[in-house]
Amino acid sequence: MRIGILTAGGDCPGINATIRGVCKTAINHYGMEVMGIHSGFQGLLTKDVELFTESSLSGLLNLGGTMLGTSREKPFKKNGVMSDVDKPALIEKNAKELGLDCIVCIGGNGTQKTAAKFAARGMNIVGVPKTIDNDIWGTDFSFGFDTAVSIATDAIDRLHSTASSHKRVMVIEVMGHKAGWIALYSGMAGGGDVILIPEIPYDIHNIGRTILNRLKKGKPYSIVVVAEGIQTDGKKRAAEYIAQEVEYETGIETRETVLGYIQRGGSPTPFDRNLSTRMGGHATELIANGQFGRMITLKGNEIDSMPLEEVAGKLKLVTEECDLVVQGRRMGICFG
Ligand code: F6P
Repeated sequence: MRIGILTAGGDCPGINATIRGVCKTAINHYGMEVMGIHSGFQGLLTKDVELFTESSLSGLLNLGGTMLGTSREKPFKKNGVMSDVDKPALIEKNAKELGLDCIVCIGGNGTQKTAAKFAARGMNIVGVPKTIDNDIWGTDFSFGFDTAVSIATDAIDRLHSTASSHKRVMVIEVMGHKAGWIALYSGMAGGGDVILIPEIPYDIHNIGRTILNRLKKGKPYSIVVVAEGIQTDGKKRAAEYIAQEVEYETGIETRETVLGYIQRGGSPTPFDRNLSTRMGGHATELIANGQFGRMITLKGNEIDSMPLEEVAGKLKLVTEECDLVVQGRRMGICFG
């Protein structure tokens, strides 16, 4: 059996560990051949591939980014390169010519949606969820999230000492356009006083009152953690907008920090390395068992899978019932 593997969408720590998990299991345990596809679905349009050997899989466990390269090519959308071509049909033809019996798609929501469409057309495909945003439906966690949360938490820890020295409010913006998981987890782990996420509407006066109440209690500095996707004036970045509004509301000197792509770069945490290894290995097991059209999931501490069609088009968002929100509210943390 020969399987193809691709990585699509934004990169994220743990992708290489997942490639290693899939391919080493395939070669060592199942005696399969593995072909790496470069630059996501784009590589399937142009047959840009490499045949993996065990030695090409060395040094991947702790390596950031993706050794296969990635792209945001969406073959079911009529734009970008080769827009005049029937891309899904070309990809199916190329996969056949390359002798691929199944394709493993490591990617986020967009990639899983594309994979579901190919699965519906009869292609043998298995998805592995990847995103620092942790917003993929059906899995408790995706690899990359733990790493992003640790980087963001470290940044918040560092802001505490400078905020306290200068008696300032520090606003830090972390990633998350639609889902506030990184802001919630790093904000709680870093002891944020205000945590703003796209899922929970905020009242700037309430945020101002929270910060002034802290001042009254002898805490002249505050940390505000915001997800990039919260409501703003539509012109400024979330951190800049909130910092300006907070300074206006409280009269306290306020500074902003945008963490940006640092959250996505570098080595995965041990948790993400092991999650990637497990998800990758189980993806290969699905293929060996002929269970196609499914995405690997983590439920509790168990690796499972679910049909791609159930994942496609949905988002896993933070809710008020989420235990960290409940506990945070009980402890007086302001969510808006
Ligand atoms: O991977 C998801 C994500 O990190 C989002 O949180 C972020 O907004 C987005 O990617 C930005 O990525 P790019 O600039 O590569 O599109």
